[in-house]
Amino acid sequence: MTLNEVESNLILFMLAGYETTSNTLSNSCFVLATKPDEQIKLFNEISSMFHLNTELNADNVQDLKYLDLFIKEVLRVYPIGTLIRRCTKATNVNGIDIPYDTPIAFDVLSVHGDPDLWGPVDPGVFYPERHETKRHPLAFLGFGAGPRNCIGMKFALIELKIALIKLILNFEFIKSDISMHNRLQFEEGIVRTAINGVTSNMFNRAKEPYNIMELVVDKFVLVLELE
Ligand code: HEM
Repeated sequence: MTLNEVESNLILFMLAGYETTSNTLSNSCFVLATKPDEQIKLFNEISSMFHLNTELNADNVQDLKYLDLFIKEVLRVYPIGTLIRRCTKATNVNGIDIPYDTPIAFDVLSVHGDPDLWGPVDPGVFYPERHETKRHPLAFLGFGAGPRNCIGMKFALIELKIALIKLILNFEFIKSDISMHNRLQFEEGIVRTAINGVTSNMFNRAKEPYNIMELVVDKFVLVLELE
């Protein structure tokens, strides 16, 4: 390997390994803050198996089935990686000529939002259970596809699971006043990042002596009373 190749690979690994995982973690926190029902499901699953002092590892985090579905759904709704290829043979797709050597960027957002691939539940709805159904092999492109797909996928999923377990056990996420919308808007880049970043309030569970279930039930009761 030349020095130039070593340098390029180091930059690739920094970008591919850190930016991707940290942005997916931010997006996951946004979903937790804006979808209390998801947070409750995850908190219940995690706290039924782990406590604050449990030593987490690559094996025991795999027992959390809903967490796995949740992360996949975060990556379906908010895919952060870009897929770029170069045409190796002149071809024609749906009447459009694609000459040899053309760079092609895949429209991952459209694939992830296609009702034929992701129905019957509306792909616009955050619904982790949809990943229990077997889909077309190219329906999920969160980690790319084919021989050049993400080599860090398994590692990234373990990292994300460990981070989310620790965060959810320690903190409750509540929508911040700054995040006006229930859906993030993105700007395109090598890594697709949220415009204006991601904000959420985080309450330390150890310092706030309430149970998240009770809090949400209280709000629900309040809404009922108002009605
Ligand atoms: C949530 C975290 C991550 C996501 C969503 C993600 C997503 C992606 C995507 C979409 C690609 C392009 C695949 C394609 O073109 O088919 C890719 C490539 C790549 N990823 Fe990741 N990635 C993540 C984490 C990581 C980590 C932790 C590492 C390394 C430790 C890593 C290393 C790489 C490398 C080296 C490539 C280039 C592979 C190649 O060109 O052959 N990724 N990733």
